[in-house]
Amino acid sequence: MPSQVKEKNDKGSSAEETPTFPPSGHLKKQAHIPDMGTYRQMYNRSIHKPEEFWMEVASEFYWKTSPSGKVLDYNFDIRKGKIFVEFMKGATTNVCYNVLDRNIMEKNLGDKTAFYWEGNAPDNSSAITYWDLLKQVCKFANVLKKLGMVKKGDRVAIYLPMIPELYAMLAFAGFSSESLCERILDYGVFRGEKLINLKQIQMKLCKSVRKVCAFTVYINMEMHPVANCIVVKHLQGKLNNQNEGTLQTAWNCEVDSWLDELMMDASEECGPVWLDAEDPLFILYTSGSTGKPKGVLHTVAGYLIFTALTFKCVFDYHEDDVYWSTADIGWITGHSYITYGPLANGATSVLFEGIPTYPHVARFWEIIQKYKVTKFYTAPTAIRLLMKYGNEVVQKFDLTSLKILGTVGEPINSEAWLWYYNVIGNQQCPIVDTFWQTETGGHVVTPLPAATPLKPGSASFPFFGVLPAVLNEHGEELEGEAEGYLVFKQPWPSIMRSLYGNHERYENTYFSKFPGYYVAGDGCKRDKDGYIWITGRIDDMLNVSGHLLSTAEVEAALTEHLAVAEAAVVSRPHQVKGECIYCFVILKDGKKFTEQIGEELKKLVREKIGPIATPDFIQNAPGLPKTRSGKIMRRVLRQIARNERELGDISTLADPSIVEVLFSQRCEAA
Ligand code: PRX
Repeated sequence: MPSQVKEKNDKGSSAEETPTFPPSGHLKKQAHIPDMGTYRQMYNRSIHKPEEFWMEVASEFYWKTSPSGKVLDYNFDIRKGKIFVEFMKGATTNVCYNVLDRNIMEKNLGDKTAFYWEGNAPDNSSAITYWDLLKQVCKFANVLKKLGMVKKGDRVAIYLPMIPELYAMLAFAGFSSESLCERILDYGVFRGEKLINLKQIQMKLCKSVRKVCAFTVYINMEMHPVANCIVVKHLQGKLNNQNEGTLQTAWNCEVDSWLDELMMDASEECGPVWLDAEDPLFILYTSGSTGKPKGVLHTVAGYLIFTALTFKCVFDYHEDDVYWSTADIGWITGHSYITYGPLANGATSVLFEGIPTYPHVARFWEIIQKYKVTKFYTAPTAIRLLMKYGNEVVQKFDLTSLKILGTVGEPINSEAWLWYYNVIGNQQCPIVDTFWQTETGGHVVTPLPAATPLKPGSASFPFFGVLPAVLNEHGEELEGEAEGYLVFKQPWPSIMRSLYGNHERYENTYFSKFPGYYVAGDGCKRDKDGYIWITGRIDDMLNVSGHLLSTAEVEAALTEHLAVAEAAVVSRPHQVKGECIYCFVILKDGKKFTEQIGEELKKLVREKIGPIATPDFIQNAPGLPKTRSGKIMRRVLRQIARNERELGDISTLADPSIVEVLFSQRCEAA
């Protein structure tokens, strides 16, 4: 499919025009991977001798026992039988022990800050050391033990906002219950100025879950007939009369209890439970921008090792760093790069409860200044949002502590990349554009900040242990410059092991289209220098007069226009062309949509990509339907463009009201 787009080179490829930015010189001296030579040598070893390579990485962690057989065993070929991946099977360990106890005992990091917590309101913050964190985890584990709620193998859901009580996650990791973190809630929380009654949402949800035993902070399903619900007091003293009404919810004495009361006399000591390397660690549901959510299952050892090493190399972690990922912990980025990766390295991180625009649009920059953040990781959608407000708001803050910037979640258009690089990084900070998925557990294609010459918009090269290939529609591997399906030929330690409760769906979704490969579901382009450019989800491709175009390239062209802050592109049926291009554009603050801007945008896309890509429709949009993790739900946009009102499930949208607004303003005729 996407291979047909190869002809697109005739129309000019943005990949080749983009300038290259050298890797950061001043990071090199003490960088873990200082140059491409070191990268290549380590990469080759990781591919050809994966067992040796990964056991060396594993040796930095604590293992109660060693693997009983092969370090890495797998089958990626559906024709040869069941798909499976096993890493260090038979070895026993405990993730919580490795990320907390080991750091405190072996590395003497007890008094080091694990998290600076920054609340929704700027006057609400705290800090928690490694010692504090371990004590809370142990106390909480003891609470659960006492209540007889959780034992090995139970599935538990955590519904919390971005507050320090998320230590609960590690208490479960300590027990190794599989945590089912679909979305995270608690009693009540402010997101900007909006107060959300999470207890009420939880109660509604409770009703739909059969035999719920423990909820709010935790659910333990199917185990007991009675529900236990532990609730966090988070907004105490922060509500006025009006707000308090919002939070009124029935309190069920039989099942509900307050966390602080339970924790009061719990012991601060709790020994770890030793688990097999291949025991489940957690199940995380993918963002659901297409189809029914999939319960991606990750296991103990491979996930720990891979998130630890990627964090160390991709953010070039050093002990005096202050790292901040703005992701939600309920998203894989929060699991891998707020919780496990940083803690496994003994890092200090910022945990932020709020939103980028509250109480003002420079909140991110204020937080970077406040904590002297050195490594900053966010999503292109946040960058585009903040770009809209201009450079002056940024320039009021001292961002000189920054050393490395990162992005994740979707392709970053070069406008946003350059703004991030020039205005936020002051041309001093390399940008690591990390491509990965809930399914991959950690970064799989990414620059290394002191080694990789950067091309804006390209995730560049594979990380250690990751062997990508580009396939055409017939499943043939394409060499050199090419465009097609992005696939992986062998497993790395943190690749998902299954879809919870449905191994067949796992095999069908990822391994059946091209037997022998893990199919990521994304299209990609490899340029003449071997750089990988992600072109977007295959399902979102646009087929105009038989030419396949990626959403990413059309959107990138639109955002080159000075008035445009963000764009999303979908297809709509067309009598002659089969499909035509329908664009939603959000303008920068203070810009007004005019017919002339519409014409300029059409011209821009035509010039950048070719006449075939000329949009038929341009709708001025006040906002876009996005999931809470910031992904555009193109499925919904397609339905708006086509005027199809049967929307299906839109419950994961951050702001569902935008859908009606977009419907009411849709373009009828070109
Ligand atoms: O389409 C790719 C896009 O996000 C998808 C994975 O989404 P999710 O499982 O929610 O995980 C997001 C956080 C890792 C991918 O299939 N994606 C992610 N990172 C990038 C990206 N697309 C382009 N460039 C990236 N850096």
